[in-house]
Amino acid sequence: MSEPTGSTPARSPAPLRLARPPVQDLGVRVLGSGSAVPSRVVTNAQIATICDTNDEWIHQRTGIRERRICDPAKGEGNVQLCTDALRRAIENAAITPDQLDLIICGTITQDMRCPSTACVVAGALGAGHAAAWDLGAACCGFVYPMNIAHDLIRIGTYRTIGVIGADCISAITDYSNRSVGILFGDAAGAAILGATDDRTKGVLAQVNKADGSGWHDLYVPAWESQIAPGSDRTNHRLGCLFMNGREVFKFAVGTFQELIAETLTKGGVTVADVDMFVCHQSNARIIEAAVERFGIPPGKVYVNIDRYGNTSGGSVPLAFDELRKAGRIQEGMVVMFVAFGAGLTWSSSLWQM
Ligand code: COA
Repeated sequence: MSEPTGSTPARSPAPLRLARPPVQDLGVRVLGSGSAVPSRVVTNAQIATICDTNDEWIHQRTGIRERRICDPAKGEGNVQLCTDALRRAIENAAITPDQLDLIICGTITQDMRCPSTACVVAGALGAGHAAAWDLGAACCGFVYPMNIAHDLIRIGTYRTIGVIGADCISAITDYSNRSVGILFGDAAGAAILGATDDRTKGVLAQVNKADGSGWHDLYVPAWESQIAPGSDRTNHRLGCLFMNGREVFKFAVGTFQELIAETLTKGGVTVADVDMFVCHQSNARIIEAAVERFGIPPGKVYVNIDRYGNTSGGSVPLAFDELRKAGRIQEGMVVMFVAFGAGLTWSSSLWQM
């Protein structure tokens, strides 16, 4: 018998038999909602004592009459608003905090840089070991995470998620800057999303986009070198929100309308099929322009900017909660959420409730 001359051919490895969990296709329901605003009301007349403006100008150009502003001396801030909003949403959903698998908080105004607002809120409410993180998308601070939460439930990763949209813009506002000081207010809103076997329920269409080339139209410079090249440095204050109002207005009017059109097309629906549009409250004129273009009946668009101003990430969930509590959004309805803001970002979510 002769010795083998060449090397033994390597045996091919046995095929791996690790089973990945199957991707599911679950329905998603809104189980509950809640919101919170600070107790302090600040009218246009009060803003006019700080900067050169007046009630008539503000109301005519923005639709705003008053806004709510946190009073740090009373312990009010972003965490407090988020905790109250999520607690109310949990109560409304008739679940307990430890039933949450995940909490996502859409905010750009964390009271603390670390840990995330979502973690602090989870701790305050006793949410057990729910995963928790913040998501920075400015005025898309509710719609971006709502879409993410929906998809995570739909594929079976989690069953119950608390989504918070919140901002305490007063913490980053220089009230002597009249282009910013007149517009914003503080608020938080939350929704509990849960899995259901009814697969007709959930998102019919969603759009999540950004154009980072426009970041310098709405931003908070932390140090001198961050101030956008070529801009007038005297208009900026470190740590405070800067806004190029005219550019943001142009972006908002155009993007808002394209966003609605794209979402209707993606969802295969018309304006007549949508029962309610829950729009980011940035400026009443921006909403009116969209209402006019699409011929949306006034009863299908909610406007509460007169009472709260632009509350950034809090704006859409606050409007949603008010509409649900008023019985104007109910199970079975088709609802479109639409938002746009700093980043620049824009986002929509069309729901079969
Ligand atoms: N009070 C009184 N007068 C004001 C003023 C204020 N707060 N701000 C500007 N003015 C004056 C200007 O000096 C100017 O006067 P002039 O015509 O005599 O020169 C005039 O009003 C128009 O100024 P302008 O800056 O063109 O105002 P505007 O019509 O663009 O309105 C905003 C300003 C901020 C209300 C508007 O640009 C806007 O809503 N932008 C979008 C903001 C937004 O939605 N941001 C958030 C996105 S999520």
